[in-house]
Amino acid sequence: MVTMTENINDLLECAKDAARAGGTHALNNPGRRQDTILDAAHDVKLELDVECQERVLEVIRSRFPDHSILGEEDKPGSSAQAADGTCRWIVDPIDGTVNFFHRLPIWCCSVAAELNGRTVAAAVYAPELGELYEASEDGEALCNGKAISVSRTASIEKAMIYTGMDIRRETGSRPLGLFEKLVFNTQKARIVGSAALDLCRIARGQGDGYFETGIFVWDIAAAALILERAGGKAELLREMGNGRLVYLATNGRIHEQLKAVMDTGT
Ligand code: IPD
Ligand code: CA
Repeated sequence: MVTMTENINDLLECAKDAARAGGTHALNNPGRRQDTILDAAHDVKLELDVECQERVLEVIRSRFPDHSILGEEDKPGSSAQAADGTCRWIVDPIDGTVNFFHRLPIWCCSVAAELNGRTVAAAVYAPELGELYEASEDGEALCNGKAISVSRTASIEKAMIYTGMDIRRETGSRPLGLFEKLVFNTQKARIVGSAALDLCRIARGQGDGYFETGIFVWDIAAAALILERAGGKAELLREMGNGRLVYLATNGRIHEQLKAVMDTGT
């Protein structure tokens, strides 16, 4: 009989192998970075997004054929749910697609295993940076096998905060208003372009917090566990509808300060 701990170890190994498979496929196709399926006004969808998700799914399905999987590249409207006690995988094949498109190396493949609504094993692989982040619900957060931990920054005036720009008009959000709040209340605000790597950076003490409106569960599912196991805190502040989230993540020490500034219902 397998114990729960062994089970989680199996999930973690699978998450790492799957993230490596997805990320490596993107890395190995440098000439196809700009082969798009869809060119939206402020976004792109790549052939490689879809192919990398397929590589990830092949690894998961080969080990856990009965598990459900939710991926960014699923067909619109599909929403994999897991029955009680069974696992759901949450996959972002290329997080930071626009960076990848423009040959900026800040992108990653993110894979989370969720049990009863909680991520229990997670891997984030950034091939061009040579970084593999991992965590399980009862283990340390690691980057390339070494333990990582959050910064000791204790006030938002001294904090560097990652964010993104939610510019879709239909959400009614006010991205510049929120950005202005960050700029005036913190030492620096940064838009780097990969939410998963933003959270992993905070997990290793390279920055102190993250706030964004309009992101999806696959952007943060894996990295949130990595951050928590590194001593930080991740919090879903609000659901905006259509799967979009308002999300806050910090080193823990500045969490309530940043929340008080940003969580004003906008
Ligand atoms: C995006 C990145 C970006 C964030 C966007 C996400 P994608 O994911 O994580 O940092 O600001 O909200 O959609 O499209 O590159 O997978
Ligand atoms: Ca993403």
